[in-house]
Amino acid sequence: MHHLVFWTICLAFQPVLRCAYPPPCDSEIYCTGELLRQMQMAKLFDDDKYFVDMKLKAAPDEVLAAFHNLTSVSPGSSLKPSELKEFLKTFFEEPGQEFEKWTPNDWHDKPYFLSKVSDTKLHSWAEKLHHLWKSLGRKISADVRDHPELYSQIYSPHPVIVPGGRFREFYYWDSYWVINGLLLSEMRDTARGMIQNFLGLVERYGFVPNGGRVYYERRSQPPFLTLMVESYYQATKDEKFLRAALPTLEKEYNFWMQNRSVALSVNGTQHLLNRYSVQVGQPRPESYTDDLELAEGLMEGAQERLWAELKAGAESGWDFSSRWFVDHHGNNSGTLKDTRTSHIIPTDLNALLCRNERTLASFHRILGQSTGVERFELAHRARLVAVEAVLWDSQMGVWLDHNLLTDSRHPTFYPSNLAPVWAQCYSQPSMGERALHYLQESGAFKYPNGVPTSLENSGQQWDLPNAWPPLQLMLIEGLWSLPIAEAKDLAFDLAQRWIRTNWLAYIKYEAMFEKYDVTGDGKPGGGGEYEVQLGFGWTNGVALQLLDQFGDRLTSGSAGLTFDLGAALLCGALCVLL
Ligand SMILES: *[C@@H]1O[C@H](CO)[C@@H](O)[C@H](O)[C@H]1NC(C)=O
Ligand SMILES: *[C@@H]1O[C@H](CO)[C@@H](O)[C@H](O)[C@H]1NC(C)=O
Ligand SMILES: *[C@@H]1O[C@H](CO)[C@@H](O)[C@H](O)[C@H]1NC(C)=O
Ligand SMILES: *[C@@H]1O[C@H](CO)[C@@H](O)[C@H](O)[C@H]1NC(C)=O
Repeated sequence: MHHLVFWTICLAFQPVLRCAYPPPCDSEIYCTGELLRQMQMAKLFDDDKYFVDMKLKAAPDEVLAAFHNLTSVSPGSSLKPSELKEFLKTFFEEPGQEFEKWTPNDWHDKPYFLSKVSDTKLHSWAEKLHHLWKSLGRKISADVRDHPELYSQIYSPHPVIVPGGRFREFYYWDSYWVINGLLLSEMRDTARGMIQNFLGLVERYGFVPNGGRVYYERRSQPPFLTLMVESYYQATKDEKFLRAALPTLEKEYNFWMQNRSVALSVNGTQHLLNRYSVQVGQPRPESYTDDLELAEGLMEGAQERLWAELKAGAESGWDFSSRWFVDHHGNNSGTLKDTRTSHIIPTDLNALLCRNERTLASFHRILGQSTGVERFELAHRARLVAVEAVLWDSQMGVWLDHNLLTDSRHPTFYPSNLAPVWAQCYSQPSMGERALHYLQESGAFKYPNGVPTSLENSGQQWDLPNAWPPLQLMLIEGLWSLPIAEAKDLAFDLAQRWIRTNWLAYIKYEAMFEKYDVTGDGKPGGGGEYEVQLGFGWTNGVALQLLDQFGDRLTSGSAGLTFDLGAALLCGALCVLL
């Protein structure tokens, strides 16, 4: 926390104090420096991620020396695109060299969950999704272990399932839904290996980086590792694994409490809550030109602050969204340039940590470690009080993000407002009931193909009209957990809508997408910094979870299924009355 106080003060006076930001990583090729700048600014590739994923053919020092040699001919000016291309040809290889072909050896063709899917079309689709794990499996080659300096890839010993498309490496929070899907596919070795990789990263970095590249080294993502271990433990009851993992899970928890927390006082009582915050004031190497162009015209300190806020946005997993915009009035509006992620206390991060605290207490209980049980029960109780005092809005009957700049809540709809229902992080049952009514009144259900990420079309990925698999599942699981029949009906209805959306896009494109558009039947999502990606790890994991849970009732559905929920509920109510 002192760390953050220091940075907040330092950054506020950045032009005067000139606090030095740490670089995005230590590599002078993949993260900072003139070579990176010239390569990215020349826009030799459609996607800035391409260059920073290329393999070096010679040691970094040698490559840098050759580059300096070339540029010293006319200092201060950039090389011509043709010279840069020549340089690339000499010293770099195409991305993808860091992986070996790998087919999961724990894959088999008859996992139990398939037998639960009764609709014949959905059943054969579920089989295809189960097959997709084989094409998304990657093993990092031994050469990355032996020569890490030649790659931006972070070496991890166990094979992984990647999201797909431009996302050639593992991603942190994506992997939670991937692992849940793998466990349904009875691929326990693969799931365990992925978790072991993450545990190893916590040992190495103190937290789990955003993804498996050095340029992600200074930021994390929503902390789902504890829940990955919970899923694995539920599937295997492997206490030995739990015992070995627990100290590392606590280490990650400590990182969030020490380096990503903020204290605030409500009515004289201090509360400790969490936020996303990354103190690296440089363009993201993998989105270099986007970041540079966005910051054009800003003063020096303001540019660096914006880049740090964009990185915090990436850490939130919602990169990018109007959810993180704070305009100069302190209102939750503006454009990407107004991104102020670190000034917002997010409902979903705090709900997740609340669930982590309860889960860590339960792990200690399983292992008979009473001191640990006490520590995390205490933390969980404090979290419940803090979430209620700061995030619960008794007027709107839901939890809302808290803006630290204005000391007020953002009354805007996001599915994340209901994350405390999913995490079961509330003390009064009436709160769950009120949150259900809030959701019903929110306007989020007027879209037949899923719940949008917000009701504002900002052109960013994490806004209308995009719907994302993890947000659908968290809503569905939350609603399902409420002891209210109406909530369970709604949960099923959302599951049906989402499966149908996935399915329609699948039969149209023979592909699974990272996100979908709620305004069209079977339409992939769009917007943001890159083209919509195929694959796709978390989409498949979430679909398998829904097919497992509701497979006896889900249908591939006639087109007539776009029924109006209001009418359906009314009919439901009338039918009960009659
Ligand atoms: C967390 O903050 C402490 C200072 O409070 C710092 O020493 C440490 O390096 C930070 N940890 C990480 C992983 O950034
Ligand atoms: C630098 O350039 C000179 C002349 O073009 C060349 O002989 C030398 O090998 C170069 N050094 C490196 C490190 O590439
Ligand atoms: C703060 O205290 C006032 C007066 O006691 C009370 O009306 C208000 O509800 C309290 N606010 C919160 C958030 O607890
Ligand atoms: C934005 O903030 C200004 C100044 O605080 C306020 O007057 C205005 O009503 C706010 N606008 C919205 C849309 O909330």
